[in-house]
Amino acid sequence: MPRTEHLFANRSIDIERAVILLREGGLVAVPTETVYGLAADAQNEAAVAGIFRAKGRPSHHPLIVHLAAASSIDEWAREVPDSARRLAAEFWPGPLTLLLRKAAGVSARITGDSPAVGLRVPAQPTLRRVLELLGRGIAAPSANPYRRLSPTTAEHVLGHLSGRIDAVLDDGPCAFGLESTIVDLSVAEPVLVRPGPISKGALEAVLGRPLSNITEGIRAPGTEAVHYQPRARVVLLEGRPAVLAAAEEDPAAAVLLCGDATPQNERQHVLPADARDYARGLYGALHVLDASSPTVIYVQAPPRNEAWRAVNDRLGRAAATARNAASG
Ligand code: TXA
Ligand code: MG
Repeated sequence: MPRTEHLFANRSIDIERAVILLREGGLVAVPTETVYGLAADAQNEAAVAGIFRAKGRPSHHPLIVHLAAASSIDEWAREVPDSARRLAAEFWPGPLTLLLRKAAGVSARITGDSPAVGLRVPAQPTLRRVLELLGRGIAAPSANPYRRLSPTTAEHVLGHLSGRIDAVLDDGPCAFGLESTIVDLSVAEPVLVRPGPISKGALEAVLGRPLSNITEGIRAPGTEAVHYQPRARVVLLEGRPAVLAAAEEDPAAAVLLCGDATPQNERQHVLPADARDYARGLYGALHVLDASSPTVIYVQAPPRNEAWRAVNDRLGRAAATARNAASG
């Protein structure tokens, strides 16, 4: 693999370059409104296989297919329920992934062992341009090594995958900063597989029925307890005094606070008290704190209400104790 090209979204020649690389079966990290994705032509088996190699991801973990328009849904899915069309009409383009029964001919490289395919029409303008020029679906997981933090800037991508992918298309920081909401509509009762920027309440309002939460036994890497981890151990503590007291004991510990505070040193980071703003900054903060190789990252636990569901989900996984020794 040659050196990774750093392309910029404000140059049309760079967007064309990204499209050429994808057409040739290359791997290009692309901006989305959630996190950066590692893109390949979804109909090129060799290119899709390359995604798994670059990430060190087990080959049975399914990938989301990104489409330019909801009208392509039937090329990828069959028996599409009315509920899917309603959610698509309401939330696409946007940070929502629908799991639907896959159409005949959808490669198992994309879906793993799953009878479903994950589809999303993204809103990010640069990615939409790439999809339109390419004229094909794009398979893309988050552009991080297996089980590591998702990237929300091109620098995060390069930090982890430089030399392993053909290019990154840089369009600055991602708008939401957390991965898309995933809803499984391939089963009789709709299931919230992964909380994200589109809230459970907003989905239920469109579905006109309650959405159940994921239960054990459904395989999806984003739903494993151990996921989204920095290198350093993450420990969640209730209340700022507890966090500051713990950090006092260990000068090599890093600290992530929530709300009104001024960082006292470079091992402290403060995120806003608004859930959306906090989400936008979360992975960036963990990337920065992790870069100083702290002994541990103490995180002030955010509120537990509905607005914080996706943030708490990711923090809980980052703090999961069964550490991934292999740092995929
Ligand atoms: O916001 C996002 O969703 C980002 C951007 C790049 O679109 N993508 C992303 O992809 O987070 P990934 O692969 O890191 O996480 C996608 C999750 C995984 O947990 C995967 O197992 C699940 O979606 N998934 C995708 N297709 C599936 C399928 N056919 N059946 C079951 N789970 C599926
Ligand atoms: Mg991921």
